[in-house]
Amino acid sequence: MTPRKDPGALAEDASLVGFLGRFAAEPDLELEWIDLLSQLEYVGFRKIVKSVAFESVSLEVLRHVSEEASHAFLLKAVVEQGGLRARSWREGRFAEAGWRYFQGLDQAVSALPASEGLRYPGVSWAIERRVLLVYPAYLRISRNEELKKALRRILAQEERHGEQFAAFAFPEGYLSEVARIEEALWPRFVAEAERLADSIQRA
Ligand SMILES: [Fe+2]
Ligand SMILES: [Fe+2]
Repeated sequence: MTPRKDPGALAEDASLVGFLGRFAAEPDLELEWIDLLSQLEYVGFRKIVKSVAFESVSLEVLRHVSEEASHAFLLKAVVEQGGLRARSWREGRFAEAGWRYFQGLDQAVSALPASEGLRYPGVSWAIERRVLLVYPAYLRISRNEELKKALRRILAQEERHGEQFAAFAFPEGYLSEVARIEEALWPRFVAEAERLADSIQRA
C-alpha cells in the first residue's frame, strides 16, 4: 500500500509578494483590497452556514462561524477607519473577482463525486490553505498598522482552522483534487485583480 500523501502547504513566490506589495504601496488601493478580504471572510462565514445542515451544527462549527464573522468585522473596521465609510460591498472594485473565485471553488468542489458530505470540510481546507499563505505574507508586507493588528489576531485563529481541517479524515486522493481546483482558480483571480488595480490606478 502506498502511504497517503496529501498536498502540503502552498509555497510563497515572487508573484504573490509583488501582488501584495502593490496594495501595500498605495493606501487607497489597499483599502479596496482590505474591503475585499473582509467581504471574502463574510462569504466564508455564509458558506459555512449554508453548507452545514441545522442538525449537524456543533460547538466547533459555531466557533468557526463566529470566528469567520469576526474576521469580516475586524477587516471592515480597518476599512472604515481608513476612511472608506458606509460603502456597500456591491461597490467594491474587487468584489466580483473575489466572488467568482470563492463561488467557483465552492461549486467545483461540491461537484466532485467524492464531495458527498464533505463540502464544508473540503472547501474550508482549500480556503484555509490559501489564507495561510496569503495572510502571513501580507502581514509582513503591509505598512498599515491597524491592518497588521487585526491580521495578527485573525491569523492566530486561521492557524487553528488550518490544523483542524488538515487533520480531517478525507478519503485518499480527495485533497489532491480539491487542491487542483483551487490552484487553478487562484491565478485567475490574481490576474483579474491585477487588471482591476491597473484600471483603478489609471483613473
Ligand atoms: Fe477567516
Ligand atoms: Fe478560517
